[in-house]
Amino acid sequence: MKTLPNISSLPDVRGKKVLVRASLNVPLIDGRVSDETRLRANLPTIKVLQERGAKIILLGHLGRNGESLQVLATALAKHVPVTFIGTAYDASETVQGIDALQDGEVVMLENVRHDEREEQNDAQYAETMAALGDYFVVDAFADAHREHASITGIAKILPTVFGEAFMQEYNALSLAVEPKSPSLAIIGGAKFDTKTPLIKTLAQKYTHVFIGGALMNDVYKARGYEIGTSVASDAAIDSEILALPNLVVPTDVLVRNQNGEVRNVLATEITSGDMVVDIGEESFKTLSRHIDEAAEIVWNGPLGYFEAGFDRFTKACAEKIAIRKNAITIVGGGDTLAALGVTHTTDAFTHVSTAGGAMLTFLETGTLPIIEQVQE
Ligand code: 3PG
Repeated sequence: MKTLPNISSLPDVRGKKVLVRASLNVPLIDGRVSDETRLRANLPTIKVLQERGAKIILLGHLGRNGESLQVLATALAKHVPVTFIGTAYDASETVQGIDALQDGEVVMLENVRHDEREEQNDAQYAETMAALGDYFVVDAFADAHREHASITGIAKILPTVFGEAFMQEYNALSLAVEPKSPSLAIIGGAKFDTKTPLIKTLAQKYTHVFIGGALMNDVYKARGYEIGTSVASDAAIDSEILALPNLVVPTDVLVRNQNGEVRNVLATEITSGDMVVDIGEESFKTLSRHIDEAAEIVWNGPLGYFEAGFDRFTKACAEKIAIRKNAITIVGGGDTLAALGVTHTTDAFTHVSTAGGAMLTFLETGTLPIIEQVQE
């Protein structure tokens, strides 16, 4: 595990302008923040920088459709005073607003994705943002699988360290990269084609890899089973995956037919009118046995069609892992965390990651682009 530069590696930042790439991509319902977990994760870094007398400038993204960050500044202001500056980064209002900051004060700037150059990792756009600060703190672990201007771009220009939330994620998820044996990885959700390298890596490192969610439909399809109207990837899965001896694929599933009736059937007995909506009872027993035996468990992605309300075994899984007090238990991904919320098990896990895609990239590669860059 690499030692990363953190906030204590910064020189005296009193009176200095510190740009913080924050984690601001929170879920909204009717324009309001519906889950503040990611937002609150920024508070430890803000607090440490305030104690050190820095002027704090928060940068981040929200959504993919140019949503304004105003709503997040309002939500964050319940925890720490923060002013929102919605003008362009190079506008005189922005520069003056930042210059007027007192030591320890916090501003949030507008969504970095308002400019298409963000996702292009444009060097000039990064220059414009970097010109607003003296130092750069990357705290948005959840966004750190992206090579975007406000992450890797600014880090090429300003002295860069990692914030408190980033370090916490890094330290905890590093445990999952080299798990204690016997170990169990549980991977749900969809898109087998994008998760193939991850599943291969996990199968090398973990004693068992249990797959759920729409991923199991892809395996059934590859084995030639009927999957009815179930969600599946377009691309066929890699045949090497099917041969992995420690891949645990549910042998039974819950299906819903066209009349809305739900049955527990063997995976070989799915009919053309059925949609797979969850793992089955026997498969949950198998999963439970692996959970009981594991010294370390990592879990990302729901086991069933969670968005449509089929959350029975995802919730049961959360409850089952939560009672494993002497195991290392690491969990991440939006829907998975929602299941922890409704089962009140969040506090029972060793580490609850705010990251989804970034967690999967880290588990697969043991690193992230910004980590490699700041190491160099
Ligand atoms: C996430 O929610 O996974 C991160 O914030 C990254 O968001 P993105 O997928 O829109 O880049």
